[in-house]
Amino acid sequence: MAIELTYLEEFALITLNRPEALNALSMDLIAHLGDCFDEVAKSKARALIIVGHGKAFCAGADIKELQDRELMAQKRGGELGQAVFAKLDTLPIASVAVINGYAFGGGMELALACTFRLATPNAKMGTPEIKLGLIPGYGGTQRLPRIVGEARALEMVMTGKTVDAQEAFRIGLVNRIVEGDPVVSGINFAREFSGYSLPVLGFARDAVKRASQTPLHEGLKIETDLGTLAFQTKDAAEGMSAFAGKRKATFIDR
Ligand code: CAA
Repeated sequence: MAIELTYLEEFALITLNRPEALNALSMDLIAHLGDCFDEVAKSKARALIIVGHGKAFCAGADIKELQDRELMAQKRGGELGQAVFAKLDTLPIASVAVINGYAFGGGMELALACTFRLATPNAKMGTPEIKLGLIPGYGGTQRLPRIVGEARALEMVMTGKTVDAQEAFRIGLVNRIVEGDPVVSGINFAREFSGYSLPVLGFARDAVKRASQTPLHEGLKIETDLGTLAFQTKDAAEGMSAFAGKRKATFIDR
């Protein structure tokens, strides 16, 4: 299978497994990814980890499949890629891309749609579409500037330049550089938040994500609304009571 969805303890793990093509995303693979995200959304997993098998996280859209494609088929392909990555972006649980090698084009866009990105020391990231006479098509022109700022995004998209793990960390493209097994690194990172209340984690993520999509006064209103929702959860009552009682909180995701 070119995509494997497995569960490890309380985590879902998606492994891109098409190493002979550096995990390039064919249309079939993208559709399958969408099915996997639907399944993860319905599962009991507390976070999703995504890794690539072999020397790449993912080398992008399948260029051989793109060649000679009719214009309208290309438009539909872009819309499908965007829709599938939007599913990932809005999963009820957080996602962690562990970029273990190349993440180019659509592969980088897959990582950009995750809540968090980690990079192994050998990681290389970029949007090289310009070298193919193309531009990023699975959300890269929109998510990249929201993460690294317009100037850096323009430079990456218009020069096609690749950044290594250190540079990616310096510009805020990845949260951390991790050594060792990528799956273990992803799980260890996810454990730092996965014990907290899932609905409250969702409110926190949504509030922060809205910051780059709304004027400040609307963002502050969203913060108040989501904060008020969080306050009404049993988990908020438990968290505050545990603090007062000098004990560890036990959250129940309600
Ligand atoms: N699509 C299809 N096949 C790909 C591929 C891709 N994106 N990337 C790599 N492959 C294939 C190669 O054709 C090669 O297959 P063969 O052995 O059959 O020739 C195999 O994977 C191994 O690749 P290389 O021999 O090229 O490996 P390398 O280590 O020498 O180079 C690389 C690695 C620098 C990542 C290079 O493969 C490369 O530049 N790949 C293309 C990256 C790219 O341009 N990505 C953007 C795609 S467009 C896009 O993603 C649009 C969008 O926004 C959705």
